Amino acid sequence: MESLSRIVADIAAEMAAAPDRGTPAQYIPPLAAVDPAHFGIAITLADGSEYAAGDADLPFSIQSVSKVFALTQALGAVGDQLWQRVGREPSGSAFNSIVQLETEHGIPRNPFVNAGAIVVDDVLLGRGAPREVIGEMLRFVRGLAGDEAIHVDETVARAEQDTGFRNFALAQYMRAFGNLHRPAEEVLGVYFHQCAIAMSCRQLARAGRFLMAGGVQPDTGLSIVSPRRARRINALMLTCGHYDGSGEFAFRVGLPGKSGVGGGILAVAPGIASIAVWSPGLNERGNSQLGTLALERLVHHTGWSIF
Ligand code: DON
Repeated sequence: MESLSRIVADIAAEMAAAPDRGTPAQYIPPLAAVDPAHFGIAITLADGSEYAAGDADLPFSIQSVSKVFALTQALGAVGDQLWQRVGREPSGSAFNSIVQLETEHGIPRNPFVNAGAIVVDDVLLGRGAPREVIGEMLRFVRGLAGDEAIHVDETVARAEQDTGFRNFALAQYMRAFGNLHRPAEEVLGVYFHQCAIAMSCRQLARAGRFLMAGGVQPDTGLSIVSPRRARRINALMLTCGHYDGSGEFAFRVGLPGKSGVGGGILAVAPGIASIAVWSPGLNERGNSQLGTLALERLVHHTGWSIF
C-alpha cells in the first residue's frame, strides 16, 4: 500500500479540483450558505496515528451523523428494548419520508431515518429533561472525541426549529400510534439540537474510534459498548446509514458509514480505521457527493472494503 499520508493528500488534491461538487442543503439558510469548495478528510487508525488533509479542522454541521451517537446512548439506556419501538431494516425511502409509518403502525424502519432518530430521542428523554439530554449527548461526543470544544451551533438549531414541519409531522404521527411518549416539541428540541452539533473531520474521526475497535475507545481503554453492540451499530450504518442511497454506498465504498445533510460522512473500517470526510455539496439522495467519491478512492487505494 502506498503511504497513507500520500493517499490522503492525493485525494484532497483531486477533490479540490473536482468540477461536479453537488449542491449544499438548501432547506435552511445556514447550510445553504456553506461554500461548496470545502473538502476535508481525517483518518484515525487503531494505533492512534492520524492522517488528515484539506479542511480537516473546520467544524461543520454533523446533522444526521449525530444519529449514531444518539443510538449508542439509547442502547446504553434501554438495551435491546429499543427494538420494540424502532426497526432494523433499510427503508429504501428518503430520510424524512412518512409513508411507511402508516402501514407499519408508527414503528420507523430504522434508527437513522428521521422518524427513527426522533423515537431514539424520545427514549433518551426517559432519563431527563431536554436540556439534560442534549447536555449529556454533548458530553458523550466530547468524551469520545477527547475535545471539550465541540458545541451546538445555535443558529442551525433555531433554523431547524423554524422549518422542521416534516419532523413535527413525523413526531405527531408516531404519537398517534403511541410510539412517542413525550410531547413532540420536547423531543424535537433534542433532535434539532443534536443535528446542529458542529464538529470537524478530525473530531468526528476520533469520536468514531470505538466503532472500529470492538466498542473500546483505543486511547483510554474505556469500553463504550460491548463488541456485539459495536458490530450491530456498524451493521446498521452499512445497511441504513445512507437512506435510499445505502445500497449504492455499500456498492461503491463497502464500509459502514453514516451521512448527514451538512455533507459529513463517518465511515468505519472495522479493526483498522475511523474515517471522517466532509464536503457540503450533496447528491440527489442527500449524501455528500465528494465525500462519497473520496471514500471510494480511499478504499480503492487501501483495500479497506469489508467485502
Ligand atoms: O431533520 C432533518 O431533516 C435535517 N436536520 C437533516 C438531517 C439529515 O442529515 C438527514 N440526512 N442525510
